[in-house]
Amino acid sequence: MTQDTNYDSFAEAYSAENETSLINGYYERPAMIKLAGDVRSRQILDAGCGSGPLAKALCDLGATVTGFDSSKAMIDLARKRLGEGAQLLVADLGQPLPFADDSFDDVVASLVFHYLEDWLGSLNEIRRVLRPGGRLIMSVNHPILYPWTNPGADYFKPTKYSDDHTFNGQLATLTYWHRPLQAMTEAFTKAGFQIEVVSEPPFSADAPAEIIPPQFEGRKSFLSFIFFVLRAQ
Ligand SMILES: C[S@@+](CC[C@H](N)C(=O)[O-])C[C@H]1O[C@@H](n2cnc3c(N)ncnc32)[C@H](O)[C@@H]1O
Repeated sequence: MTQDTNYDSFAEAYSAENETSLINGYYERPAMIKLAGDVRSRQILDAGCGSGPLAKALCDLGATVTGFDSSKAMIDLARKRLGEGAQLLVADLGQPLPFADDSFDDVVASLVFHYLEDWLGSLNEIRRVLRPGGRLIMSVNHPILYPWTNPGADYFKPTKYSDDHTFNGQLATLTYWHRPLQAMTEAFTKAGFQIEVVSEPPFSADAPAEIIPPQFEGRKSFLSFIFFVLRAQ
């Protein structure tokens, strides 16, 4: 495995939290669904699908979705959600992908690329499995996060860092790679993607008042992730 964070030990807790949290249920996932747009009849690969909430939403909108994740516990949860016939497998985004060239119309990658030190190899693989003109729609930790939460840190230096989270009452340490925005955009263009959209979306207007922290009251947006729609050339 190419990542330091293994979700196996907190898969259930993460999945439960992700369902209804402001950051996932009312910000990240709705933003990805909106960026994906009309997905009827599209063949979509969900890279780092976790327990499959986005895959399920895209299936409900008429797409055919294949999902993979490096965590077996996450794939087991995704199978429960999507059913025994779902195309789900354990695989590592940091390794060659087990799919033929030109297999998918779109790849979605929610909150997974920030676990990878090297983006180019993975982006090349995604472009290989995408049909020409296909899209990669992704979200990652916003590059402002690391210097914001670690005052004095060098924004321009790709850096591995960890932070602690409580998911549904269970403590977990996540280890990520920070990289500046320019390193992201350079990797996209090197791998043969054209950048169509860069997005810092608002959270959903229907987020229940009780899950909005007091400091966000009266605001429509906060910065946590950055979203891209990339077109395979
Ligand atoms: C923050 S969770 C997001 C899960 C899902 N995309 C969602 O939005 O609900 C990150 C997921 O990426 C997976 N992951 C981390 N590194 C990975 C890698 N190298 N290859 C495949 N999956 C990976 C984790 O196991 C975890 O399920």
